[in-house]
Amino acid sequence: MPNTQTIPVNDIAMHVRTEGAGIPVLLVHGFPLDHTMWDAQVEVLAEHCRVIAPDLRGYGATELADAGDPPKITMQQYADDLAALLDALGVDEPVVYAGFSMGGYIGWQFVKNHRDKLRALVLVDTRASDDADDARKMRLKMANHVQEWGAEKVAEAMIPKLFAESSLDALHPMVARTREVISATNPLAIAAAQRGMAERPDSTPDLAGINVPTMAIVGAEDQLSQPEEVQRVVNAIPNAGLVVIPAAGHMAPVEQPDAVNLVLTEFVKSLNA
Ligand code: MLT
Repeated sequence: MPNTQTIPVNDIAMHVRTEGAGIPVLLVHGFPLDHTMWDAQVEVLAEHCRVIAPDLRGYGATELADAGDPPKITMQQYADDLAALLDALGVDEPVVYAGFSMGGYIGWQFVKNHRDKLRALVLVDTRASDDADDARKMRLKMANHVQEWGAEKVAEAMIPKLFAESSLDALHPMVARTREVISATNPLAIAAAQRGMAERPDSTPDLAGINVPTMAIVGAEDQLSQPEEVQRVVNAIPNAGLVVIPAAGHMAPVEQPDAVNLVLTEFVKSLNA
C-alpha cells in the first residue's frame, strides 16, 4: 500500500506520498497530472533514498483553495508550497529536486528562492525558456475556455503530444491512465496553471549560476521539450549531464521506467558516494 498523507501547507491541505529512507528526493509532477506519474520511480528509488512525491496545488488529491479571479498560480507559488511541504514533513537536509516538465519550470524558482533546501537537480523532459507568443496565446485560450470545454477535451488534445508514436496505443494502460488523470483534473486548476506558465520568466540567464550536481533526462521523441533544446540547457549549466531515453516521448518516466530509474538511481548513488 502506498504511504500517503494529507498535511497543512501554506493555505492548503497537501497530499503527498513518501516512501523509503536516506537522502530526500522530491519528485515534482507535470501539467496537468499528479504524483502517480512517478509510481514506477517511487518503488525503485525508495530502496535507495527517501522519496517525496506530492500532488501540487489543485492536482490529484491536493486542494486548489482560492486561486484568484481569473485563477492563476505562479511557478513561484508552487515552489513555495514545496519548500513549506519539506518543512512540514520535517525534512532537515537539502533535497534532490527532480522536476518533470512544469515541475522543472517550478524547479527554476526553487533553485532561485530555496537554494538552501537544494542538494542536486534532475531535469526531466523540461526546458528553461519562456513561451513564444503563439504558445502563450494558446495557453491563455485554454485558461479562458477550459471550464466550458471540460478536462476531457484537454486530455484529448494533449495525449498525442505526450507519448512517442511507438507507445501511443490508446488501449495501453499507461496511456489510458494518463488520460484518466488529466480528465479528472479540476478545470480551474488547469486554467490557473496555464496562466502561471504563460507568465513564467525565461530562466536561461540563471543556468550558468546553478552550482549543484545536475542531471537531465529527455525522451528521444519528446515533442514538447525536444532533446536539442534540453541539450542547450545542459550546456549552459556547469558540469550537468544528459541522458536521452530511446523509444520515449515527453512521458519518458512512464514510457521507459526502467531506463529512467537506472539514471535516477545511479545519480542518487553518486551523491551518496
Ligand atoms: C507538462 O508536461 O508539464 C506540460 O506539458 C508543460 C507545458 O505545458 O509547457
